[in-house]
Amino acid sequence: EEKSMEDIVALCKRRGFVYPASDIYGGINGFWDYGPLGTALKNNIRDWWWKQTVECPPIGPDGEPLSVVGLDSAIIQNPKTWEASGHVGGFNDPMVDCTETKKRYRADHVEVLIVEGRGMWAFMENQPDTIAKKLKKAKIAIDDGERKLLTELDVAVYPNIIGPDTDKPGTLTEPRQFNLMFETFVGAIRNDDAKAYLRPETAQGIFLNYKNVVDTMRVKVPFGIAQVGKSFRNEVTPRNFIFRSREFEQMELEWFCAPEDSPKWYDFWKHERMNWWKSLGVTDDNLRFRDHDDDELAHYSRMCVDVEYKYPFSAPSFGELEGVAHRGCFDLTQHQEHSGTKMEYFDQANPDKDKQRYIPNVIEPASGLTRGVLVLLCEAYTPDESRAAKVFMKFKPKFAPIKAGIFPLVNKEGMPEIAHKLYLDLRQKHTVQMDAKQSIGKRYARMDEAGTPFCFTIDGETANDQAVTVRHRDTQAQERVPLDKVTAFLDEQLAD
Ligand code: GAP
Repeated sequence: EEKSMEDIVALCKRRGFVYPASDIYGGINGFWDYGPLGTALKNNIRDWWWKQTVECPPIGPDGEPLSVVGLDSAIIQNPKTWEASGHVGGFNDPMVDCTETKKRYRADHVEVLIVEGRGMWAFMENQPDTIAKKLKKAKIAIDDGERKLLTELDVAVYPNIIGPDTDKPGTLTEPRQFNLMFETFVGAIRNDDAKAYLRPETAQGIFLNYKNVVDTMRVKVPFGIAQVGKSFRNEVTPRNFIFRSREFEQMELEWFCAPEDSPKWYDFWKHERMNWWKSLGVTDDNLRFRDHDDDELAHYSRMCVDVEYKYPFSAPSFGELEGVAHRGCFDLTQHQEHSGTKMEYFDQANPDKDKQRYIPNVIEPASGLTRGVLVLLCEAYTPDESRAAKVFMKFKPKFAPIKAGIFPLVNKEGMPEIAHKLYLDLRQKHTVQMDAKQSIGKRYARMDEAGTPFCFTIDGETANDQAVTVRHRDTQAQERVPLDKVTAFLDEQLAD
């Protein structure tokens, strides 16, 4: 079963999942707009995350109910935040300009430029000072036939970084550091004092409010603070549809715990997060863990494991979906030093007096909401020659943007009236759509592409037997359901 990104992107536009941002002006590289169906899908994923993380958090490894609170912090914060967090100094991508690049390859976290007659250059995401190491890493990636990490890419996709910057053909300029944070100015005067940044992660807003939450919410370590929201990174090479964009959404949990308990929690959240992705209907075979190598760890991180997905563009290999990082006490310590605010936690209950005062450690499951949308789109996309649309979107019913279609077979003999009544009933609880236009086959095709799991058809028999035909999206099987049982039927199907 072949899935191509091109086909997925085309369906997304055709059916209102995702459009290129500023489409009528020719787009803007790295930015996307979520259409009506894409917005619904994204909100469904976000709401499920919020429910499972904040409202009904899991039971802990020792059978204790976990405590997590929510937060919605500002996108723009005092710029000192980003000095303390290390983003002003360390959040860079090395960039090499080149005039004669012939081939460009992509591996997990590694990019390789092959320049004819000049050899190979490689660099890695979000890591300064690693050009030299990268050559070794890239070689591994290239030579490692088994892992098959590399995908050939079209050079024309990167006009912004492969520009005629040098006048000597065939040379690479010196690598230069490029900070990924978007800058802006706050207030009327545009000078250095007014400079601020759009947040590149939601996490720092949580660390900034750690003290506020501890002082006002009667929480006790261990506990978590969760946040969903937009983040911005001026990515050097946005690519693979919405996989890496310059504006995206994250769902992040910062779990604060005692330092000695941190290994236990790291392990706990790692498995929780994998199970959560499976609860969205993502198949086991398409998910895996990948531990970060030491030289790959971000500046704040002691240990990190990614939950990876087998994207159509990375297959047979995998690409990042979520990172679960052990951030130690890096962030709170940094903010304590830079702000002068004490971040120590006092644990009265600990009988060991030496362990009562500490800066909590942080375990951070950090995922991309918009990347989750991509995963569900890729996972759902199912080519099927037997159907009019030649494809259907196999979303788990609970996450489908539209839960049911309601079709009067023809617009006469009382059918539209019964359909309208059923529509009014169902729409009180669910997102449903009435469709009376064109042949029933065309209506099914539209719903297949939208990923609508059930279609109810009101036909000539309905007035007599008070029943409708329900068509199941995945099997195309049809069965008769009594009109007064349709609501219960739909409720049951959407329950899990
Ligand atoms: N607070 C930690 C942090 O931000 P990260 O690994 O840089 O860690 C977490 O980002 C997640 O956010 C990633 O696993 C990915 O799902 C998503 N993400 C990061 N950069 C992204 C981008 N440019 N476009 C879309 N999603 C992105």
